[in-house]
Amino acid sequence: MTNKSILKALNGETQAVPPIWMMRQAGRYLPEYKATRAQAGDFLSLCYTPDLAAEVTLQPIRRFGFDAAILFADILLLPQALGADLWFVTGEGPRLSTITSDADFAPLKGKDDIHETLAPVYETVKIVARELPKETTFIGFAGAPWTVATYMIAGRGTPDQGPAHALREGNNALFEKIIDLLTVSTIEYLDMQIKAGAEVVKIFDSWAGSLKGDAFEKYAVAPARKITTELKKRHPNVPIIGFPREAGEGYIGFHAKTGVDCVALDNSVSPEWAAANVQKDGCVQGNLKPSHMVTGGQGLIDEVRHIRETFSKGPHIFNLGHGITPDADPDNVTLMIETLRETV
Ligand code: CP3
Repeated sequence: MTNKSILKALNGETQAVPPIWMMRQAGRYLPEYKATRAQAGDFLSLCYTPDLAAEVTLQPIRRFGFDAAILFADILLLPQALGADLWFVTGEGPRLSTITSDADFAPLKGKDDIHETLAPVYETVKIVARELPKETTFIGFAGAPWTVATYMIAGRGTPDQGPAHALREGNNALFEKIIDLLTVSTIEYLDMQIKAGAEVVKIFDSWAGSLKGDAFEKYAVAPARKITTELKKRHPNVPIIGFPREAGEGYIGFHAKTGVDCVALDNSVSPEWAAANVQKDGCVQGNLKPSHMVTGGQGLIDEVRHIRETFSKGPHIFNLGHGITPDADPDNVTLMIETLRETV
């Protein structure tokens, strides 16, 4: 059996003090992250330089003592490994070459041809696995096929994922080819992260909330199930966290429908609702509003206690409902952790 509190939660154990980590815990709110990023030159160079990517992965562990480290990389490295052009515009976000026709899709590589580009990521995983404190769990990750497809199709982030929905409706055959390529490639990518030392993997479906009804089942649930089923065959003891962000009612039954060990919740659902409807099926992760990391104070303390108490009857990993923002105050992160771990 494991002594690691994150693995205990993922095995279904209820703990008096839930373990904690934070989405985007390595990021621009930390001066040491900004220094290492400046040393790398730009964001993508940071992702592809194993020593520096490992360094920023470890920084929040040293400063805060989180129970898990998450690999420092980005969900858009996979499309790049498949042959898409990728660059980041400072202050605006990612840009990619677009895929809107069969001619755009044809030159993409296959699932077994991604590893040369991604080799530095696997090297980062090896370094972190070696250097992490023994009580800290190491989480690898990938984007879910739908979320990654929204960026590949539009060539950038979009508020409503309009271009991806348009392709889904206008050329469903091409849309499904993109989803299928991403699904099988994600399996190989996560398989390699696990072989290199990741103990848990998380699938980020940040835009799952814009898929409704049958489309949610086909393009959020089914790919997550395929990825989970295949990874469980290869690595039966590696837990998987699913994050169908803003799925709302779609969170209900997500454990059973996909086979994930833990469902990560965004902060648009109340802890009371999620405890009754989602945690009854297994471990949940979440779901403090990221803005508390900016505002702090009694509001933060009250909400940390409220979330801890509401999820206290089942397995729970404390986290934010989405990534911490660059304007957050690191002292509020410390306050969150101290409040969570205070004797009840
Ligand atoms: O959580 C972590 O700390 C691990 C590393 C990680 C990053 N991105 C680093 C990053 C993870 C897990 C991601 C996932 C990711 N990337 C998602 C899914 C999760 C989510 O946030 O919804 C998405 C949609 C992306 C794509 C992406 N990467 C965008 C839209 C942006 C620009 C927005 C922004 O915050 O600037 C990024 C850049 C990015 N990825 C940064 C970091 C730390 C900021 C880059 C910088 O240092 O300038």
